[in-house]
Amino acid sequence: MQSADATTIVIFGITGDLAARKLLPALFNLACLGRLPESTRIVGFARRERSDEEVRELLREGVTSVGGMDGHLPEWDEFARGITYISGDLTDTDDYRKLDAHLTAFEGSGSTGRIYYLSVAPNLYARCVTELGAAGMSRENGEDWRRVIIEKPFGNDGVSAAALDRDVQAVFDESQVYRIDHYVGKETVQNLLYFRFLNSIFEPLWNRNYIESVQISALEEVGVEGRVDFYDQTGVVRDMFQNHLLQVLAMIAMEPPNSIDADALRNEKTKVLQAIRCPEPEHAVRAQYEGYTSLPGVAPGSTTPTYAAMMLRIDNWRWQGVPFFLRSGKALSTKSTEVVIQFREPPHLLMGAGQDSEAARIEPNILALRLQPDEGMHLRFMSKVPGGGTATRPVDMRFNYDDTFEGQAIPDSYVQLLDDVLRGDPSLFTRSDNIHAAWAVVDPLLEAWNDGNAPPPALYRVGSDGPSQADAMLANEGQRWLPG
Ligand code: BG6
Repeated sequence: MQSADATTIVIFGITGDLAARKLLPALFNLACLGRLPESTRIVGFARRERSDEEVRELLREGVTSVGGMDGHLPEWDEFARGITYISGDLTDTDDYRKLDAHLTAFEGSGSTGRIYYLSVAPNLYARCVTELGAAGMSRENGEDWRRVIIEKPFGNDGVSAAALDRDVQAVFDESQVYRIDHYVGKETVQNLLYFRFLNSIFEPLWNRNYIESVQISALEEVGVEGRVDFYDQTGVVRDMFQNHLLQVLAMIAMEPPNSIDADALRNEKTKVLQAIRCPEPEHAVRAQYEGYTSLPGVAPGSTTPTYAAMMLRIDNWRWQGVPFFLRSGKALSTKSTEVVIQFREPPHLLMGAGQDSEAARIEPNILALRLQPDEGMHLRFMSKVPGGGTATRPVDMRFNYDDTFEGQAIPDSYVQLLDDVLRGDPSLFTRSDNIHAAWAVVDPLLEAWNDGNAPPPALYRVGSDGPSQADAMLANEGQRWLPG
């Protein structure tokens, strides 16, 4: 991996929520772990005039209140001394030149590495990248490297994503581009690959012959408060499905790559995403929580879904006939992200069925991969209840991160992802073809919902488990949502 004599991380939009909540805490963490190159400087760029001190103070307050860490530690003070700020207009080439001169002034004469983090409104991505190009800030030279990190959402649909790609690729080579999806950086999501490909017991079962269905759920308790402007334009499918849920699905369903090399991994992800059949509207449910349209800023009569569920089919040899049920929503009863694999029933029941009612309780085997919170996994299987008779009961074999890795906190995904960008490892970042394959899955459904004749979103109660229509969709397939 390349290292440079001077490394700079430029955060466009450093005074925003993401920087305080995620980026600065992650960088501070890396500094404490000794994983930030010694020479690293952090430079913030945003519109308002502010002094370095004011920005450091703002970030200290931010990380202390939302970042869950203490900005009053002496280590923070030392870390914060490496943060400088420069104000400028994201649409003005001269301000990028000013920024470039600011960076060059302290970079010295050795090799330089720069990361540009676009933590700004998505409609500014293209402009920002184009201006970086116009100011000559994307050029790599010998040992000097330049990388750009682009937050999701990458485009609003396949067409706009392709247009954004053209703008990005006019300035940066694909190898310089890191499209971030923070789900992929989660420990438990990364562990899906380790779980599948470092163990031999599950892989032989990991196909249509043994798996009945796969469920992927990302349920949230929070509503959209504070983010209405963004959310009402976006909705749950663009916000959660096109990226996070499809990335998780890809890791569950992809073929084993030949190696852990970034492109080998991403080739397999793209292949499986391309094999997903677009869901028919009758195999999808969109819903809105009650009261959503009364939130200040929501367009009158908005049909933006805050919840969706859909059944996907993967047209390939491994998964033919296996339904993948995905759901995600806000303002629900609980926060929980998990994958539940349901295995087929035994072909012939020797005991259990046809006996007394207690004995007839045959539950399918399930493997539940709990991504957050209470990270872990468990495998449910049937057992004989001790004592006379043939009574049976489902029981569990459990692995839980807290118990097994006691004392080892699970790092936030931004820690891993920023470390990867610093080391130049794109494995966990979304390649352009990946993004397009994912848009191709959801675009037709979004278009169908956009049609004036489409039925309006169903309603569900705040704090509930979501709309009954999502349960009915599974019931039609002879299934139900499985608690992990
Ligand atoms: C973000 C979405 O990408 O992911 C948010 O924009 C969502 O709407 C969040 O709340 C969920 O992330 P996590 O890590 O809390 O599951």
